[in-house]
Amino acid sequence: MTLDFLGNLQRTHRCGELRVGQDGQDVVLMGWVNRRRDHGNLIFLDLRDRTGITQVVLDIEVSNDAHEKAEAARSEYVVAVKGRVRKRGEGLENPNMPTGAIEVVAKELLLLNEAKTPPFSPAEDAIANEEVRLKYRYLDLRREQMQKNFLTRHKVTRAIREYLSENGFLEIETPFMTRSTPEGARDYLVPSRVHPGNFYALPQSPQIFKQILMISGFDRYFQVARCFRDEDLRADRQPEFTQIDLEMTFPQQATVFRVVEGFLTAAFATAGIELTAPFIQMSYDEAIRRYGIDKPDMRLPALTDLTEELTPALREQLKIEQKLPVLGFVIPNAGGLSGTQRRALVDEIRKAFGECGLDSLDVARLKTNETFAPLANAIEAKLAAEPTLEEGVTADDLVVVITPKLGTPEKWNYDPQWIYKRVGALRLQLAQKFADKHGRFTQTGTADDYRFLWVTDFPMYEWDEETKVWNAAHHPFTSPHEDDIKSGALFNDKGAVRALAYDIVLNGTELGSGSIRIHRQDVQAEIFRSLGMSDEEAKERFGFFLDALEYGTPPHGGIALGLDRIVMILAGAQSLREVIAFPKTAKAIDLMVDAPSHATEQQLKELHLKIAGRS
Ligand code: AMO
Repeated sequence: MTLDFLGNLQRTHRCGELRVGQDGQDVVLMGWVNRRRDHGNLIFLDLRDRTGITQVVLDIEVSNDAHEKAEAARSEYVVAVKGRVRKRGEGLENPNMPTGAIEVVAKELLLLNEAKTPPFSPAEDAIANEEVRLKYRYLDLRREQMQKNFLTRHKVTRAIREYLSENGFLEIETPFMTRSTPEGARDYLVPSRVHPGNFYALPQSPQIFKQILMISGFDRYFQVARCFRDEDLRADRQPEFTQIDLEMTFPQQATVFRVVEGFLTAAFATAGIELTAPFIQMSYDEAIRRYGIDKPDMRLPALTDLTEELTPALREQLKIEQKLPVLGFVIPNAGGLSGTQRRALVDEIRKAFGECGLDSLDVARLKTNETFAPLANAIEAKLAAEPTLEEGVTADDLVVVITPKLGTPEKWNYDPQWIYKRVGALRLQLAQKFADKHGRFTQTGTADDYRFLWVTDFPMYEWDEETKVWNAAHHPFTSPHEDDIKSGALFNDKGAVRALAYDIVLNGTELGSGSIRIHRQDVQAEIFRSLGMSDEEAKERFGFFLDALEYGTPPHGGIALGLDRIVMILAGAQSLREVIAFPKTAKAIDLMVDAPSHATEQQLKELHLKIAGRS
């Protein structure tokens, strides 16, 4: 086939732009053949670009030459069309297409490039085999949904940049080739050619640099920052991802909150969603008690504490541990389970919980028992009072009540929150199982779909039962509550120390984390020590930072939000891979470019590296 040259032909419109207002106008369109339908003397080409699709008609009566070329054209060929816009005849409009009221009658068709038969059609919905999608990412990205996702991403990023710029934040870049930053994951290392045996680390976040920028007097900093973490990957975790990272001088927590609410409101407005700020705020302890998790999904009813309903006498009768709480929750719209289905579910929960000392109370069955009916009614009444349950508890809802069995497992002794966390996890698991099916999580495109909240007062330290050490729950630059320094808890009761750390949560996903930082060198050194780091080690790893803290460091604080996660939720996507142009698989492989790949012997030699096991 001979291909045409573009010459000096210029396109006049994009494929999604033409409307009846342009009826009769001469236009030039360029794009990909989305679909081709051959009706003999009439051939229809759906021409596609980023903006949409226009139907092009090739009528043998209008141009024999153009018609002939259209016979040769196939899906994904790149073509240019010169023609005239025509209002479609009555009944021939396509109300599902923005350009559906017109078509373009071609006078000339240029075949600019051909295409092999693609392994899947960009004209259709995503195929199930994600590996093939990722290998042929250029084809996958041509799909309308993907093009939409990246338009969303662009608009969101732009709105955030503009908001922060208007609010006194300077965008400053920080290095990719740097030292290790402690965010809890493994580092990606880059070997140095000129310094044998030495490595740069790619940043897990710009944390230390942004704090140094505050010491440097920049007042307010932000960056759309790429971060790198070698950690176990999940649908909401990629090895390289992007943060909206910011830091400010002299803030209260509320100062940071208002900035974040401001830019999120601007970002969501680009999708036509009007958020109401300020967002609600909840302490970590309350989140655990009411939702059993530090990132509550506020679209679902909270846990209800039924401890008081289960009196000591009743517990005795039902063989329930006296000292521990009884928790219940409702999954709305579970779809009217039959008695058998419900009992099977209770059994399933019992089995899952069997080992760990929890049991499930069958409230429906209790109701049929004279002795226990009042208890069952009291439980239902209390559950029905949960504010998210507008109609109380209905026959369509699933009621779950979890009780601790007699005799407590060991682990409860060191983590009294364990029962809340375990029941909270069950709540989410069942919500996925039932509520999803009944549209609870289906997006309606209104602010109601997006339940934001701030979680505050995180614990400063986390006890690692395996290694028997205290770790920083956020990162070691987070300031403890001033009260907990003054009271001495910092030195003698680590488990009780609260951090000035906060998370922003959306629909059960942690969107961002931040804190007010330590600005005093003596406190910072003490925190390193309390994390089991010797002064020598602290000096070796963070000496430059401890030094910097001694030269007039202002109080400062900030936060980082996962941009990919924001876009994922806004796009209604289930995985970050839908909103990152060239993502990696769960095994951290880029299937398109086939990375990571071997280094040549020459490269290894220059880098002074030897692969173990290779001669
Ligand atoms: P943190 O480690 O909590 O805090 O990260 C902040 C936010 O970044 C996003 N995120 C990720 N997104 C995709 N893939 C990943 N692997 C991944 N890891 C984290 C999440 C998370 O909430 N320096 C601190 C912030 C600060 O204190 O200012 C930090 O990086 O949305």
